[in-house]
Amino acid sequence: PLAGALGREITGVSIGGGINEQAFAEIHTAWLEYNVVFFRNQNLTPDDQLAFAKRFGDIHRHLFNKAMEGYPEITELLKRPHQKLNSGGRWHSDQMYTPQPAQATMLPAREIPAYGGDTMFSSMYRAYDALSDGMKKMLAGLRGISNGDNRNNPSGMTRQERVAAGIAQISQIDPGAAQTISSHPVIRTHPETGRKLLYVGGHTERIDGWTEAESEPLLKFLMAHAARPEFVCRFRWSEGAMALWDNRCTQHFAINDYFGHQRRMHKIMIKGDTPF
Ligand code: SIN
Repeated sequence: PLAGALGREITGVSIGGGINEQAFAEIHTAWLEYNVVFFRNQNLTPDDQLAFAKRFGDIHRHLFNKAMEGYPEITELLKRPHQKLNSGGRWHSDQMYTPQPAQATMLPAREIPAYGGDTMFSSMYRAYDALSDGMKKMLAGLRGISNGDNRNNPSGMTRQERVAAGIAQISQIDPGAAQTISSHPVIRTHPETGRKLLYVGGHTERIDGWTEAESEPLLKFLMAHAARPEFVCRFRWSEGAMALWDNRCTQHFAINDYFGHQRRMHKIMIKGDTPF
């Protein structure tokens, strides 16, 4: 284990070229238990990554980010040395603004900076468990509205504004008719473990039926609460490492502290179901 709340490094397995049913079942069990698992020295090809991802389910394609050439299922997160903004540099759960957010994300490192660029994860189970009974009761009937294109990010700009300013890290695509604003329960039950958890993230703009001004203090508290150090683990990347996290019960944060260096990751997400 990497920390008390979540995160486990898995050794003794080589994913490239395929793994047997027993190895997959052990990884899946550890993933549900530790919420995010890490593998080192894998050096997967995009085809290896895709084959492993498909063991978890169908691929969830990013609604706004352009896919990698030749691999419509993979998004390349490339931050060049001169770029100031990074992708994922705030606490969030992937694709929470869609009606059926991605259940999992698989992220192998392709190029890592000489230092920095770590990723943090927080356990939304632990965040829920630590709330008072009074707060749990108040949150129980609430729903959060998540928006895929809000200003709640380090630039303070919408996606279109970032593109216009030439500071978007990844080429953006038009989501077309896809739903990019969605309402989800603030307290969610994990469909596989049956555990309750706090389900808010960086995309959550307001509480359904509340104004933004009314929602802000509560969301601010919940987001700060969820990021308490004892609910968090931090992963230091190495060449060929890969993280696999459960978006249903975690948030993550890509730390932007490596200006002048390049970082390149390949992201695949797996389809999830409607949160309840
Ligand atoms: C993300 O938010 O999915 C990116 C995480 C990272 O690059 O570490």
